[in-house]
Amino acid sequence: MSNKPSLILAIDQGTTSSRAILFSAELEVLSTQQKELALHYPHKGWVEQNPEDIWCDTLDVCRRIVRSLPDEAKAIAAIGITNQRETTILWDRKTGMPVYNAIVWQDRRTAPLCEQLRAAGHEPMVEAKTGLLFDPYFSAGKIAWILAHVEGARERAERGELAFGTIDCYLLWRLTGGRVHASDVTNASRTQLYNIVEQKWDEALLALFDIPEQILPEVLDNAADFGVTDPALFGREIPICGMAGDQHAALIGQGCVRPGMVKSTYGTGCFALMNIGSDFRVSQNRLLTTPAYRLDGKMVYALEGSIFIAGAAIQWLRDGLEFFSDAGLSEDLARSVHDNNEVYFVPAFTGLGAPYWRPDVRGAIMGLSRETTKAHIVRAALEAQGYQTRDLMTAMEADSACEAAVIRIDGGLVANAFMCQFLADMLNKPVEVPEVTEATALGAACLAGLYTGILPGLEAITQRWRKARVYQPAMAESERERLYRGWKAAVEALL
Ligand code: G3P
Repeated sequence: MSNKPSLILAIDQGTTSSRAILFSAELEVLSTQQKELALHYPHKGWVEQNPEDIWCDTLDVCRRIVRSLPDEAKAIAAIGITNQRETTILWDRKTGMPVYNAIVWQDRRTAPLCEQLRAAGHEPMVEAKTGLLFDPYFSAGKIAWILAHVEGARERAERGELAFGTIDCYLLWRLTGGRVHASDVTNASRTQLYNIVEQKWDEALLALFDIPEQILPEVLDNAADFGVTDPALFGREIPICGMAGDQHAALIGQGCVRPGMVKSTYGTGCFALMNIGSDFRVSQNRLLTTPAYRLDGKMVYALEGSIFIAGAAIQWLRDGLEFFSDAGLSEDLARSVHDNNEVYFVPAFTGLGAPYWRPDVRGAIMGLSRETTKAHIVRAALEAQGYQTRDLMTAMEADSACEAAVIRIDGGLVANAFMCQFLADMLNKPVEVPEVTEATALGAACLAGLYTGILPGLEAITQRWRKARVYQPAMAESERERLYRGWKAAVEALL
């Protein structure tokens, strides 16, 4: 047996947890380590995280994996990084100290700036360059906020003393002991400063948000030489060879490498991406256009529908309302009632994303009556995932002029069979769950595997993809439409 390292370590730094997943050369999950990550809400609509927590948790889960191996880090050939996107950190290049907390993608504080830029007529220009609409979701406004509100930050940024990064970039910087300041094209695309057509940081966008170019990282392909880990961390240098935002990584992990293929991930939020091939085009239905991936300099694009709250609604029912102690129990509760009793739950806790884009709207539970029980509310929260996904698929199919035959789903919520069946019913299409539900981490591992040659090419990912389960639509047309009309009316009431 050869002693050549062949294992791949995927780092999946998400909104609510930091994970390390070890894959074999055949891309099977060998072990997983995870730590929950806290979110802070210092003001209404603000969402922050401590960058030091993000780093320490990530390092800790990686070290636990490394220590569990007989020869420690020697067997690991490469690391792939995937991450919650848009979350913004600025830090001092010399000391490594962040100048402010991480402003999380869900944070709404820059809504007035977005509104001001939209009113001034800049949206078509920005959309043509970035594929994005104005929303507090993206990083540019968050950077502008830090530069404007943290004392001395603008001057230090202009002097080149500060670095900006999304979580991928920040982790890379820490993993390499401050030697590499780089990001990848998918993460860069979510800043709203990166031109995804010309594939470069865009001067007009930097001017629009008044952001000094000196703070920006270098942008690489998704499978590339991102440097090596600081030997002090794992006892040896490990090459970092793959990087992608979590939703793009999941698209790869789900083997959606041909145009028309769709995946939808149910994590904190829900993000549906359709591969649209190598031609950039702007959505006509208020979806986003985003890089699917760039390999060997060749860009492939995707249409994206972004829903801000999916699993987070179930987490809120568990922790906020204390309806159950374990998220798994939500399925039993939903099944304990035979319908929703006309209850609709619009989980717009941090505004509505695609296709509505209303950062000002907040969540609501509608249709409450004396007969409503907590089971109805739980059921309505799970059903909301089906309605929200249908909103996205309707827009996506109108945009792409082709119907997605099936949807591949992943993320924590797909463990809930009630949710999956309702999704198939509401979309009126089969919904497939893969054998490896860790699609995001798998995508990051695939990227590292591609660069190191452990994986021969993208097609190999599709060939290895296996489905574990398929949910077939089983709801009568009249019932499906009646329920969906109820959802539309609930949303309309909030707009
Ligand atoms: O754009 C935000 C997204 O990347 C967050 O993903 O997995 O935390 O729902 P997740």
